[in-house]
Amino acid sequence: MPESETSRTQRLFFALWPNEEIRKHLCALADNALPRGVGRRVKAENLHLTLVFLGSVEAKARRCIERAASAIRARRFTLIFERVGCWQRTGVMWVGPLHQPEGVVFLVDALNSVLAGCGMPTEKRTYRAHLTLARKVRRCGRGRAIAPLAWDISRFCLVASHTHAEGARYEILRSWELG
Ligand code: 2AM
Repeated sequence: MPESETSRTQRLFFALWPNEEIRKHLCALADNALPRGVGRRVKAENLHLTLVFLGSVEAKARRCIERAASAIRARRFTLIFERVGCWQRTGVMWVGPLHQPEGVVFLVDALNSVLAGCGMPTEKRTYRAHLTLARKVRRCGRGRAIAPLAWDISRFCLVASHTHAEGARYEILRSWELG
């Protein structure tokens, strides 16, 4: 039985999941950006861009969320990664776009409405599109521009986060195609 079906409450988030080709580019970017031994690299299979983090969700709320997410009508779009940066406070090294892509903003807003409609709390902090390459980076260097990497987005996913001694494991529960 999948891990996701063995407990009633799950730790969930909505995300964009890279395909094999983009994942390879992202790994190469991380290789370039991080000297050996600095920070903790996100494993290749775990690389993703979070849209909305839900936290702990009960089965009933999950059903509501999935139903409402199915009603979202959004178009495909291209996200262009153009810089690598690091947040000193959280020790997160990331790759991101220069400007918030409209397609992402639309999806994040729509998903927050889904949460609100299902009686779930929503994120109050301003959303900043980024894909985490590494955590626990102690000394953040300056952000820098990179050769643009275009990622064609055609679906978004609902993902469960499983915590294990050896780190997080993510399970894509369901995904929705964009029009
Ligand atoms: P991050 O990569 O920017 O740290 C799964 O945990 C994903 O949800 C992570 O990619 C993480 O984003 C994001 N997330 C957002 N808020 C979170 C929180 N309060 N706790 C854990 N993860 C969170």
